[in-house]
Amino acid sequence: MSISDPILTITDLTADYGGNRALVIGKLTVRRGELLGVVGPNGAGKSTLVGAILGWSRGDPKVSGRVELDGEDVSQMSTAQRVRRGLLLIPESTLIFSQMSVADNLAHAATNPGAGRDIYSLDDIYDLFPNLAKRRHHLGSQLSGGERQMLGIARALRLAPRVLCLDEPSIGLAPKLVSSVLSTIHDLANDGLTVLLIEQNVEAALKVVDRLMLLERGRIVTSGTADEMREDKRIAEAYLGAAA
Ligand SMILES: Nc1ncnc2c1ncn2[C@@H]1O[C@H](COP(=O)(O)OP(=O)(O)O)[C@@H](O)[C@H]1O
Ligand SMILES: [Mg+2]
Repeated sequence: MSISDPILTITDLTADYGGNRALVIGKLTVRRGELLGVVGPNGAGKSTLVGAILGWSRGDPKVSGRVELDGEDVSQMSTAQRVRRGLLLIPESTLIFSQMSVADNLAHAATNPGAGRDIYSLDDIYDLFPNLAKRRHHLGSQLSGGERQMLGIARALRLAPRVLCLDEPSIGLAPKLVSSVLSTIHDLANDGLTVLLIEQNVEAALKVVDRLMLLERGRIVTSGTADEMREDKRIAEAYLGAAA
């Protein structure tokens, strides 16, 4: 899959909590079909960034700047309008219905009427996530952490994403599950889905992303291809536990 023109373009984005500026992004583009990773320490502004992209946040920061999806300025739109256009976010704690079965969780993710986009059928989803197929009659509350993340991703796929943002999907998972969730995300990107992946684990992120950005104190301090970032001093010294 060739990575080409930008599908998501962010320009002069700022977010303030009261008098506290949490985010200053001059320019950030996500290219069609790429898997872009955003890493950075706790409090760097990663969740604020994806929240601002979606127009959604727990903390209700004041956001200004431009968010363009596939050439359309969505920055004045409600979150629901953005979702309808295929801009999707799986937030830090995945939203699934604990008291519903896997099958009902997926049934309730009604497909988006957006024209001309690939919609993952239930069959596609169960092919992609055999564990969910096996457990389709289990309640959300009976799933493991990894399965809950998979179900969150599956629900998002039913909404025909153009760009799927994931906020730390591997947090709290055992190392084996971390690589399984990230490799599933990698497979989806290889299939043509555009993904913006927030990840704390830089080493794990570097194994799957096309490009990586390092966010610190609300600013992009370095970015490049996975190979470039593995050699980057700031990444290597602070996050890979080895000198470049
Ligand atoms: N609801 C909120 N009210 C005030 N400040 C907040 C709120 N949420 C986040 N912040 C501040 O914004 C900064 C970025 O937070 P966040 O985006 O959650 O970082 P990350 O996701 O990278 O850990 C931090 O300094 C944090 O304290
Ligand atoms: Mg966060």
